[in-house]
Amino acid sequence: MRRLIPLLILALFGAACTSTGGADSEFTTEETTTTTSRAQRTTGTRAPETTTTAPATETPPETVDGNDEDPPVDLSGLDVGDPGGDMSGLTAERALNSIGDPTFPGIGNAGYDVQSYDITLDLTGEELVAEAVIELVAQVDLPGFNLDLEGMNVDEVRVDDEPVLFRRDGRELIVRLADPLPTGASASVFVAYNGTPQPIVANDLPFNLGFQTRSWGTFVASEPIGAATWFPANDHPQDKALFTITMTVPSGETGVGPGQLIESTTNADGSETFVWRAREPMSTYLASVATGDFEVSTETLDNGLVIRHAVHASSVGITGTTLDSTVEMIAEFEAQFGPYPFESYGVLVVPESLGFALENQTLSLFGEDIIASSAAQPILAHELAHHWFGDNISPAAWDDIWLNEGFATWAEWWWTERIGGGDRVDQAATIPMAPLSGIDASSLFDLNVYWRGGLTVEALRREVGDEMFGTILREWTDRYGGGVASTENFIDLVTELAGPAPADTVSQWVFSPAMPQLPPDR
Ligand code: ARG
Ligand code: ZN
Repeated sequence: MRRLIPLLILALFGAACTSTGGADSEFTTEETTTTTSRAQRTTGTRAPETTTTAPATETPPETVDGNDEDPPVDLSGLDVGDPGGDMSGLTAERALNSIGDPTFPGIGNAGYDVQSYDITLDLTGEELVAEAVIELVAQVDLPGFNLDLEGMNVDEVRVDDEPVLFRRDGRELIVRLADPLPTGASASVFVAYNGTPQPIVANDLPFNLGFQTRSWGTFVASEPIGAATWFPANDHPQDKALFTITMTVPSGETGVGPGQLIESTTNADGSETFVWRAREPMSTYLASVATGDFEVSTETLDNGLVIRHAVHASSVGITGTTLDSTVEMIAEFEAQFGPYPFESYGVLVVPESLGFALENQTLSLFGEDIIASSAAQPILAHELAHHWFGDNISPAAWDDIWLNEGFATWAEWWWTERIGGGDRVDQAATIPMAPLSGIDASSLFDLNVYWRGGLTVEALRREVGDEMFGTILREWTDRYGGGVASTENFIDLVTELAGPAPADTVSQWVFSPAMPQLPPDR
């Protein structure tokens, strides 16, 4: 079972960064684009010195301010603008190229708030040919901004329809604006890019992160920092946004994405185009697509919730009736946690062994290994529960990961006991485990995050009783749903609703080096 496999070492973020040298490290528009600054446009004057006609591999074009460094912008204390939790987890330095996450200091970008990603993927050729339109709002006066993008060739970047200067530096796509974008102003950023997405390979891990290409098709497993392998992103949970994803695939294949299918077309050349749209905000690590010979089943429940599963044609037999429990599971969790927070839910089954499952928003990812195992129902419950805990309320910083995994594990135990699968809680409580603070990249998915995290939730339930426990969970969702929350936010909420003693219990479970004793169930 997955939980017994130590999921280790999501390390070496730095080593995973591709380093592009040469001309790529200088600002450029695409090879032959003429660039005109906003100021110049308003006076109708062209700027010959910023016109590049030489290929980017030759003399680098002049930069806007003649300076390759990111201009200093004071981003301390900046809120990225999403609803929800405090910034307590973001202790590292914020910069245009960093949101300040202590676990992954280089990821995400401060200074703007993405409203939506509109991503178009053409998967009919040898390489991915893609476009992204990113609507963002400046949170400070921005001389430029960064996006995260791993690998891929960038052909062109436009801001509000005008080509702009950009350069690459490892995972950063650095965009320089001719005129600063003032605080509060929105901009539409267009990025044309192509190439073969390369998953981020972390040493000693059973999984690679990001967009994965197989002989049978493609799928995405990004948590925590892999979204940038397939689209230019503000790749941190803090910056949630709406997503529309368009996939064009060869004849006979299907493209599946988050939310709901809003359009499908057969093109003149026989290829097919699928447009999926997610109407609720989503963190980048939860955005996913899959392409291949998937059988998609769609059912709309009386309350309007759309249940759609996508099972690869060759996994249909092994999946059997395993997913039939979904509707009942949702109903039981709704009774516990409050309404299911999204427009749709479903499971994607890919025809391989993944060694993990993943709570991609509205489309949980499973491989045949787990679907075919006796752990299928508990882990289906686990990934579904993440939609309340992890997807609707996402971690303010990556070292708050126990808020995802602890709550999902608690829900998994609860469901397992309900279906007569035995009591996992007392078993877990006998194992000494490290505290839930000080989590680094290599320990994000360690056993303690799951089990000591689950015991933290159970210890709180036992102390405050079922009624107050339900009140806390619902208020947690009401207050932070659609955004992010931190460990501090949770402890504060427990203090507010249940008083200092239960809050102290949670603190002990989270922070104390020694494992606290689990109080008896009453
Ligand atoms: N959040 C997942 C789960 O517990 C674990 C994912 C690990 N794999 C990965 N590619 N990040 O359900
Ligand atoms: Zn989980």
